[in-house]
Amino acid sequence: MSYYKIKDLENYFKMYKKSVREPRKFWDKIADENFIWYQQWDKVFEFNMEEAQFKWFVNAKLNITKNCIDRHLNKRGDKTAIIFEPNNPDEEAQHITYNELYEKVAKMANVLKEQGIKKGDRVCIYLPMIPELAIAVLACARIGAVHSVIFAGFSASAVATRINDSECKMVITSDGGYRGNKVIDLKSIVDESLFNCSCVEKVLVVKRTGGNVIMKEGRDIWLQPLLDEALGNHVAEIMDAEDPLFILYTSGSTGKPKGMVHTTAGYMVSTAYTFKNVFSYEEDDVYWCTADIGWITGHSYILYGPLLNGATTVIFEGIPSYPDHSRFWEVIEKHKVNQFYTAPTAIRALAKESVEYIQRFQFKSLKVIGSVGEPINEEAWHWYNDHVGGKRCPLVDTWWQTETGGIMISPIPFVTPTKPTYASLPLPGIQPVLMDELRNEIEGNQVTGSLCIKFPWPSMARTIWGDHQRYKDTYFTAFPGKYFTGDGALRDEVGYYRITGRVDDVIIVSGHNLGTAPIEDNINEHPAVAESAIVGFPHDVKGNALYGFIILKESGENRDKENLTREINQLISEQIGPIAKLDKIQFVKGLPKTRSGKIMRRILRKIAEGDFANFGDTSTLLNPECVEEIKNGRIE
Ligand code: PRX
Repeated sequence: MSYYKIKDLENYFKMYKKSVREPRKFWDKIADENFIWYQQWDKVFEFNMEEAQFKWFVNAKLNITKNCIDRHLNKRGDKTAIIFEPNNPDEEAQHITYNELYEKVAKMANVLKEQGIKKGDRVCIYLPMIPELAIAVLACARIGAVHSVIFAGFSASAVATRINDSECKMVITSDGGYRGNKVIDLKSIVDESLFNCSCVEKVLVVKRTGGNVIMKEGRDIWLQPLLDEALGNHVAEIMDAEDPLFILYTSGSTGKPKGMVHTTAGYMVSTAYTFKNVFSYEEDDVYWCTADIGWITGHSYILYGPLLNGATTVIFEGIPSYPDHSRFWEVIEKHKVNQFYTAPTAIRALAKESVEYIQRFQFKSLKVIGSVGEPINEEAWHWYNDHVGGKRCPLVDTWWQTETGGIMISPIPFVTPTKPTYASLPLPGIQPVLMDELRNEIEGNQVTGSLCIKFPWPSMARTIWGDHQRYKDTYFTAFPGKYFTGDGALRDEVGYYRITGRVDDVIIVSGHNLGTAPIEDNINEHPAVAESAIVGFPHDVKGNALYGFIILKESGENRDKENLTREINQLISEQIGPIAKLDKIQFVKGLPKTRSGKIMRRILRKIAEGDFANFGDTSTLLNPECVEEIKNGRIE
């Protein structure tokens, strides 16, 4: 286990150096000592940078669920694997042991097979945060089906796009889901999306809310009766190291969402290794990550990472403000949570509320607190560190992405001294570099640049489903030979990294990645709209919010602006989901454009922020006169 756990700073530096000097040996040892394999690899890795092709643990055979479940049964069969904390605090929490998890996953795996799902088939999972979501994910992995989890806040149209893109054969959903005092009718959203998806043959429906649903004959089946009949054991499928494990969609700066493909062995090795070290997980700890399994954080650090380490992981169905703003704190106390991992947007929202909500609690159990998803501002960092961490628990600000599969840059608790707003140092095996505009690597410290990773790592996404060219173009062309993250960063005087934010057209709102292009495409579909541009502006709670500049067609100019604003947001809600709604909409006559016709978003960003002092060079604009008009009409 010597390589698996980082003990102190000296040990970190030693390991880091080794991982850079001898990556083969480094990952070989971790993979060899900490997992079970049907067959070992011929080579640790094999790359073709030019073609953006990466293989890890070449020709190894395994099943990730054997590593998540079966191998723990001897030692930890009666240990709780999953604690389910329902939305309603009056509903009893469930404790699912590793033995029970085995049986539930086996039954589900048998049901999937009986319903015609084979190795390699894609299965869409559209479920609320209930145990069945975890079980469905693991059952897919068990039989070698590729899971594509879609966050249960996406609209019917967004669900349809994702189902069609990867041609899912089945959807697993529920009658509905609870979120605070709302009930979401998931099944009817699926029904609507399936009008446009001919690839889906079966829909399995979990009963959660007991709400009315329409079951389509020959397609829709209630899950529970099938599970009742199913066998409680299952021989796991033998998977190749590079067989796809899952697809997870993330927004791009242009066009349709990108189905990031993660494969089996590399993802397993990285998520297990990073979970153990970044959260300093010890055998009897209770770990809670508040993300949704519909995002990568939930995949890697609610499910796979913790279960690979035989941990106890909490699945929380609800939201931080229900029934009141003390819910997170109550759950930490109730389940004696040792590691707590959440997002800056949640911290900012809770920090706005009265301190009485949090002061009632002492958090004696907490050892480590973590942050993920967007830059954490200094104020939020201190609030989190003081009020939740009690200035005693290390705060790990973890930087990573859907594409990276696992945490890349983060302090290691009790090892790396933390510094507010800094993700600090790369984990062993990860080689970040900063690049300048001329594509040169920037040496030394106290510098800023575009963040790239210069050597592959096991859990990197291997491709975009059905579009390898887009994968190459998006990640490997801006800085040839390197993976480009899309983020800007600075490196301080001791080599700590601070992520400053996206340098492309992706805006992070409440921790969710939103591409400007798909939202603009949507707005432009409104019959009154001629053209639009979306930019982000700083928001107290969400981090960023969206500001839309919209040019109307002549026919739309006399329309009531309030109604139009409502209709446009309605359209976005239906097509993408409520998370993409615009906070501000300004109707304008023109948008600042370069001579090549590109919208100068830099100027719009400045206007949205209310910073009129420094627009930079506007002389290249085709229509500089519109800037004044937009400035004058700015919405406060
Ligand atoms: O801009 C970075 C930001 O979130 C982006 C990745 O988003 P997504 O793929 O949805 O994954 C989020 C969860 C891993 C990054 O490109 N980001 C993520 N973590 C941090 C962050 N920005 C600053 N600090 C972080 N700790």
